[in-house]
Amino acid sequence: MFRSHTCGALRLSDVNSKVTLAGWVQTVRKFGSISFVDLRDRYGITQLLFAESLQSLLDDQPLGREFVLQVTGTVTERSNKNPQMPTGDVEIAVEKFIILNKSITPPFTIQDDTDGGDDLRMKYRFLDLRRPAVKKNLTLRYEVGRSARNYLHEQQFMDIETPFLIKSTPEGARDFVVPSRMNPGQFYALPQSPQTFKQLLMVSGYDRYYQIVKCFRDEDLRADRQPEFTQIDCEMCFVEQEDILMMFEGLLRRIFKDVKGIDYTETIQRMSWEEAMWTYGNDKPDIRFEMKLCNLKFPSHAFPGKSSMEARISDAGFKVFDDAETVIAFAVPGCSEYTRKQTDELTEWVKRPQIGMNGMVFIKCNADGSFKSSIDKFYEPQKLEAIATAVNAKAGDLILILAGNEEKTRKAISDLRLYMGQQLGLRKVDEFKLLWVLDFPLFEYAEEGNRWVARHHPFTSPHPADIEKMIGNSPEIRNPSEYLKHPYAQIKANAYDMVLNGNEIGGGSIRIFQKELQQKMFAALGMDEAEQQNKFGFLLGAFEYGAPPHGGIAFGFDRLCAILGGSESIRDFIAFPKNNSGRDMMIDAPSGIDQQQFDELQIKLNLKNQ
Ligand code: AMO
Repeated sequence: MFRSHTCGALRLSDVNSKVTLAGWVQTVRKFGSISFVDLRDRYGITQLLFAESLQSLLDDQPLGREFVLQVTGTVTERSNKNPQMPTGDVEIAVEKFIILNKSITPPFTIQDDTDGGDDLRMKYRFLDLRRPAVKKNLTLRYEVGRSARNYLHEQQFMDIETPFLIKSTPEGARDFVVPSRMNPGQFYALPQSPQTFKQLLMVSGYDRYYQIVKCFRDEDLRADRQPEFTQIDCEMCFVEQEDILMMFEGLLRRIFKDVKGIDYTETIQRMSWEEAMWTYGNDKPDIRFEMKLCNLKFPSHAFPGKSSMEARISDAGFKVFDDAETVIAFAVPGCSEYTRKQTDELTEWVKRPQIGMNGMVFIKCNADGSFKSSIDKFYEPQKLEAIATAVNAKAGDLILILAGNEEKTRKAISDLRLYMGQQLGLRKVDEFKLLWVLDFPLFEYAEEGNRWVARHHPFTSPHPADIEKMIGNSPEIRNPSEYLKHPYAQIKANAYDMVLNGNEIGGGSIRIFQKELQQKMFAALGMDEAEQQNKFGFLLGAFEYGAPPHGGIAFGFDRLCAILGGSESIRDFIAFPKNNSGRDMMIDAPSGIDQQQFDELQIKLNLKNQ
């Protein structure tokens, strides 16, 4: 028997038991003629006491950090207990020990506040994974997966694997491709998601499918994006949007309960995409805090007549507002006493290249009812008051205003709102707020190529009421600057995203299941019949054999785990992640391949910039 207990198991009730433990040496501390060793495994740490009688043996075989050790001894009560450790009441009086393996000195300390930088820890990820903090994250990931599987199993979802070597599934990113040796000159694509396969499973009658599955997307990486990531991918048939929303609200509630012990019983808020954009500046609002945006000047394509505020901010001779396509503001509660230094810092913050604004306007709504602003020269107090009323600001609030081009300004003010939320401690990692964002536009205009692209993916169905706009109109955009007036810009999709604390953790849609509508959709995206057949002939063909109405959703498993674990970075929740350049630092991938492999694949390398 290698071990009788783990390093996290022993308690006072075990005193006097004879035990055998195995694990890694965390620390060795010598006190005169005795030594203490902390022995670590996946379950915890147990203190070992090497008495004087073992010292000469220890001198012959000195222990070092990360040595693999097996010890046999008796559990004794500790004289100086450590209440921080579950095993802190006891120690093992070692009688026998065997060094199972030695370790060279690790490049960083294996503890939570390690001295190892990111790159070093990634290179030695197998050591990093020994750290309790990383172990905690992977354990949480396992628990989320287990909870999801249990729920979906109980709801009669069947876990069905789909292939990795496939033809492209468009999800808006580039494909990773794999050359085929047996079909020279031909390539598989790795799935960006199992989208078409899960739809085909619906055609096959497997009415509730799920899979916790790897997806591959060659896109620019960020803290919440990896080139290979995992989805909880689901599909159902004979459902409407409401059925899907309810089913997956159930999934999230279950995960909260199982993993965090939280009874998430409150109603999950729903918001249209349009409302999210106007009132939060993005399609994944963080609703843990208010600070809603107020449009003081709408861009011309939006709600004619809704810009009653506009008259009050224009014609004051303030060119920044007059020339801007849009002017957006929000009130920061209780910050009217910000100093000059603080408002200057905020102005610098919005001027950083990542945000890219030229400046920021502020209005202080003083506690005594007066106003002080950076635009006092142009706006008399009554006008400032009118703005404050429009923005719903109270005495003591600080109003922040950005003006400029619609897209950039909306993104910037949304970032500024999040930044202020962060500064004021309103984005608490242990508070969770779920939200459904609904009614996304079906299409998005792509300047490049002057064409429509699918906002979600090409299999998403339009709102039934909007199908006419698609059937009855050509997708042609004659005047690119007026694309917003095209009927296609008004088509809403039967699509939904689930948002948690300002992160998109899942997205899905009710699908198109009729061949004609799917062809119309492909055509709208600029695919002629030959291309449709070449790329999606299998799907169009399947739709001729009794395809049922269906829909589904996929959750970003890594993202969900990261948020539940209180982290911004999904890397911390993936056992072997890639760095920001898509590299695995540990195995050093990607890397070149042998000439023989090129020859077998009949591929000749022709690198451009080398
Ligand atoms: P979508 O592309 O929205 O939908 O992806 C679903 C969820 O996956 C997560 N996600 C990612 N996580 C980490 N790294 C990435 N690079 C990455 N890209 C996406 C997000 C996202 O919400 N087939 C559809 C789903 C459907 O329609 O059923 C799909 O893949 O959390």
